[in-house]
Amino acid sequence: MLHVLEHPLITHKLAIMRSKDTSTKDFRQNLDEIAGLMAYEITRDVPTRDVVVETPMGDCHTKTLATDIVLVPILRAGLGMVNGICDLVPTVKVAHIGLYRDEETLEPHEYFAKYPKCMDDAVVMIVDPMLATGGSANAAITMVKRQGAKNIRLVCLVGAPEGVKAVEAQHPDVDIYLAALDDKLNEKGYIVPGLGDAGDRIFGTK
Ligand code: PRP
Ligand code: URA
Repeated sequence: MLHVLEHPLITHKLAIMRSKDTSTKDFRQNLDEIAGLMAYEITRDVPTRDVVVETPMGDCHTKTLATDIVLVPILRAGLGMVNGICDLVPTVKVAHIGLYRDEETLEPHEYFAKYPKCMDDAVVMIVDPMLATGGSANAAITMVKRQGAKNIRLVCLVGAPEGVKAVEAQHPDVDIYLAALDDKLNEKGYIVPGLGDAGDRIFGTK
């Protein structure tokens, strides 16, 4: 199911990121901040367990997180969302999936994968700023499913309708979270209006 997390703070920060005049430093900072805001919303339903904590005033019956949360950035651009979420949930474990999109065919190619052991029972959040054709997201979801992941959430900043459709068709069990659903893809597979090449803008490689 698709969830577009519309919130004035998220939209404001995303508007800064979209501007072609935004510096690498400000692009990175706003990406991290949006990732944190999105994670706050997306983790609303994670399982908790009852605990008793002794405060200076006595016992407090409260709750703590009852499950592992695994963050799975799709390299490179997904790395730009990791710190913002780690700041919010310092106990997250971080897997890595290396995929690049062939600029001609737009097909994803895998070059790296490393996972923690707890994928089966964890809430798994795959993060990548851009959901364009959906090829990279679909490949990453297939990879984490092979590791046993069942509770999977795909978290992207900007999505194209084509990418959303592709993921919904191949992985209907995965919830998709976006900060914005844009208009379309152009002939080169870039999201319009989008924000350009996320990886290049995060790492200053263009
Ligand atoms: C970008 C982006 C996604 C992918 C989206 O990565 O970060 O991973 O393209 O496109 P898709 O939905 O059509 O697969 P890219 O392959 O450019 O690699 P990078 O992160 O290293 O820049
Ligand atoms: N990857 C990006 O970084 N930007 C797009 O618009 C599409 C794919």
